[in-house]
Amino acid sequence: MTVPFRAAHDQIPVFRRTPLPAGAARACFNEPHVPPLDGLAEAVAAEIPHLNEYGSRVDEARANIARAHGRQADDVLLGSGSMDLIRALIGSVCEPGDEVVTSWRTFEGYLPACHAHGATPVRVPTTAEGAHDVDSLLAAITERTRILLIASPNNPSGRALTREQLDRLLAEVPSRVVLALDEAYSEFATSPRAAFGAPLFAPAPALPENVVVLRTLSKSAALASLRVGYALAAPGVIEGLSKMRTQNGVDRLAVAAAEFCFTDHALEQIEDRVTWIAAERQRIERTLRDRMERAEIEGKPRIEIVHSDGNFVWLPVGSRAEELRDHLVDEARVVPRAYAGEGVRYTVIEAEHNDRFVDAVSEWATRG
Ligand SMILES: Cc1ncc(COP(=O)(O)O)c(C=O)c1O
Repeated sequence: MTVPFRAAHDQIPVFRRTPLPAGAARACFNEPHVPPLDGLAEAVAAEIPHLNEYGSRVDEARANIARAHGRQADDVLLGSGSMDLIRALIGSVCEPGDEVVTSWRTFEGYLPACHAHGATPVRVPTTAEGAHDVDSLLAAITERTRILLIASPNNPSGRALTREQLDRLLAEVPSRVVLALDEAYSEFATSPRAAFGAPLFAPAPALPENVVVLRTLSKSAALASLRVGYALAAPGVIEGLSKMRTQNGVDRLAVAAAEFCFTDHALEQIEDRVTWIAAERQRIERTLRDRMERAEIEGKPRIEIVHSDGNFVWLPVGSRAEELRDHLVDEARVVPRAYAGEGVRYTVIEAEHNDRFVDAVSEWATRG
């Protein structure tokens, strides 16, 4: 006798870990390769004597996060990674059959999050460069739409919403639809035109009641294993979302890390690392662009080098994605992620790996 799973369950693929090629550096999960923050171990260890207790220093963590965003603690909800909160959001507002409009390609975690609650993902193609097509996203909203879910910067293209695009969404998404801004990579953005719903270290923009901003410590704070993300929204929305979450669902050690990451001492360290990663991404893109220009002058083949605002580089090489990934594993001993038929996403890691990546991409792209 088998368990009678609901129909939408069949659409969720089982998560399986793929073994990575031995001896090659992981550049496929958008994890920053940096050592733990100075002071983090002590902050987490201080909670170990309390592991027998339910609960955590969640109020202190919420207060620190709110302060860094120029908001109130009631505007903040912690989750086990931002994915947990995206699921909570969909589960809180979607009846089975309701629609969640998103761009495609984007972060594929959105699809199982919809199916888990019987919601229907509606995928709106991005532009050829992987940017959000705001006209088409707005046009895709129907009576059944409950959420417009946007990753900015997008994953895997790295393209962020511009000020004009964000303002249009804020003004034109109907108030009965939640505008969910997934800003997992926003800290790495350098485009002068990029704009965010909840920038750090900047005055908090006024947001309509139907906006939920999702942030994570997995990327900028390099804490993917601890699983901490947070939502920023109006207090009533935060309270509503909290009902969908397990009580004490973020563990005490993770909450302690979140509280620590929003102290001035930790924020300064995070800012330094993020600045280094963003500069390294720009160096990789600039070097590749220069080499492709030289190849063009010399009449050799070349590929397009696009701009990313994430902690990764996106190479939209289409049908040659898997070939390039294999070449990079063999020649540069790095493992990027290949999206079959679309492109290759390479996470910015240590400079020596990045240098080998640049050389191997250049050689592959320009050979006749
Ligand atoms: C756009 C985007 N949103 C959310 C997540 C999930 O992050 P978390 O580790 O906070 O669940 C990822 C992870 O790669 C992502 O790329």
